[in-house]
Amino acid sequence: MSTPLLSAQTVAVSYGKIEAVLDVSLVIPKGRIITVIGANGAGKSSLLGSLMGILPLAGGSATFEGEPLDRVPVEQRVARGLCLVPEKRELFVTMSVAENLELGAYHRPRSEAKSSLEMVYDLFPRLLERRKQAAGTLSGGERQMLAMGRALMAKPKLLMLDEPSLGLAPRIVKEIFGLIGRLRDSGVSILLVEQNARGALRTADYAYVMETGQVTLQGPAADLAQDPRVIESYLGISGGDSSCSLPSSSVGATNP
Ligand SMILES: Nc1ncnc2c1ncn2[C@@H]1O[C@H](COP(=O)(O)OP(=O)(O)OP(=O)(O)O)[C@@H](O)[C@H]1O
Ligand SMILES: [Mg+2]
Repeated sequence: MSTPLLSAQTVAVSYGKIEAVLDVSLVIPKGRIITVIGANGAGKSSLLGSLMGILPLAGGSATFEGEPLDRVPVEQRVARGLCLVPEKRELFVTMSVAENLELGAYHRPRSEAKSSLEMVYDLFPRLLERRKQAAGTLSGGERQMLAMGRALMAKPKLLMLDEPSLGLAPRIVKEIFGLIGRLRDSGVSILLVEQNARGALRTADYAYVMETGQVTLQGPAADLAQDPRVIESYLGISGGDSSCSLPSSSVGATNP
């Protein structure tokens, strides 16, 4: 078997005495969409933060393209091809769409950035239409597209998306999941963290279920979508559309 793009072994993340992630192991092969689904507080964002190097590991280790990530700072992880789109999108609201995109490629030569910009506008024609508009005036869906577009400007090998469907209307959610599929087909590997289990399982190749800091189930996404335990806890009984999220107590969407 070829070396996985990313491999995490028994990763743990703590905030003081609060143990957010306990012994999580996962593998991201090249060219695949891997999803981590789970309810509020399961530890999904903490896991992503630790893989990006924003949060320190309290235990375990991770490798990227076979090389250890231990103590590698965030900027070097970006340069190696890791990129995170956080839940809060974190755009520069007074800057234009084009300026936000250009910032995503700050560490790359201008000529390369130019071809990435063309690729991003090709993928998200709406960003091209709105390239001069201030990011703060975009709709929720457009902001998510801009956040993803800015991440792609760094030419990531692994794009980690934290709840890209959060707070978006069903039609836009479908569009975003469709785009994630297209990105995978263009060669970008994706780690997709979602509370929208239905949409995530439809989009991903392989899935992990996280509960209170641990992986409780894993398997091909299509198999998990048929698993009675997943159906009961995460998919509900209706055959509704992809906007369905978890039936757990919700602390609410933070922002669009
Ligand atoms: N900065 C922090 N300080 C203390 N505890 C934190 C901090 N951030 C997260 N936690 C705790 O860690 C646990 C996991 O949180 P995390 O945000 O990783 O979950 P999540 O699965 O991403 O949830 P959600 O779906 O609501 O985004 C929770 O119990 C949370 O309260
Ligand atoms: Mg989260």
